[in-house]
Amino acid sequence: MTTFEHVSEAAAFVRSRLGRLTPQIAIVLGSGLGAVAEAVGDPVVVPFAEVPHFPKSTVEGHSGRIVAGSLGGVDVVVLQGRVHFYEGYTPQQVTFPARVLGALGVRALVLTNAAGGIAEGYRIGQLVALADHINLMGFNPLIGPNEPRYACVPGAGLRFFDMTEAYSRRLRVLAQEAAAEEGFELGEGVYLAVSGPSFETPAEIRAFRTLGATLVGMSTVPETIVARHMGMEVLGISCVTNLAAGLSASPLSHQEVFEAGRQVEHRLAGLLKRLAPRIVKSLGE
Ligand code: HPA
Repeated sequence: MTTFEHVSEAAAFVRSRLGRLTPQIAIVLGSGLGAVAEAVGDPVVVPFAEVPHFPKSTVEGHSGRIVAGSLGGVDVVVLQGRVHFYEGYTPQQVTFPARVLGALGVRALVLTNAAGGIAEGYRIGQLVALADHINLMGFNPLIGPNEPRYACVPGAGLRFFDMTEAYSRRLRVLAQEAAAEEGFELGEGVYLAVSGPSFETPAEIRAFRTLGATLVGMSTVPETIVARHMGMEVLGISCVTNLAAGLSASPLSHQEVFEAGRQVEHRLAGLLKRLAPRIVKSLGE
């Protein structure tokens, strides 16, 4: 079977569990950011392990389940946990869940992550909307034959397609407005993706800053690329869990990243609860 057929099977299985839910928006949660899943009302929970062909996460802090239900009055599907390239998964496996979301009819994909802050002035725990990305992961998940059947909207599913607005300006403005109402400022940044799992060296961070990156992390970019291939709109939100290598006196640890996520996850949940209905409303306009 092809990956496309696996995606179709997985989507059919998830759809059968969703009952009357018809989510147009999906949220993927990064390290330590699980509280959003707890904010979902009347949840239908499906462990990744039950979904045919779905990859299972191996990282602590990524529990690996689908939580679908109501957030801010609209249907949402939340992926609590994701799989990463550094775990040994292929680019196809890393992007499989995003493909399934597209096949489910999701139109707006919110990708959250934990990231190291490169730009001066970032504080730990700050949320930053992605304005763009730099892909230094070492691969593009679309390498291989093009599969036009992944298209969710007319005109998508192309071999070559535009990435000038990989992260939707429209969704970013809605997110910034919602953040302001929640009482905080949602800045903008450029996310540079590396494969990991080792954190960066200080020299790499200096190089990345020169390249124009303000954030560094090990996820999100492959999902953004397949989402844009399918025609979904993407909102990226990074949580600055640490200052990038060489910018603080202490060595980096996963524990630090995870704990900083835990401190901000409720703020993120508040933001997404306010934002989800606005995004859905804007899709119909
Ligand atoms: N580097 C890479 N990935 C990360 C970091 C970092 O400093 N923090 C959280 N994810």
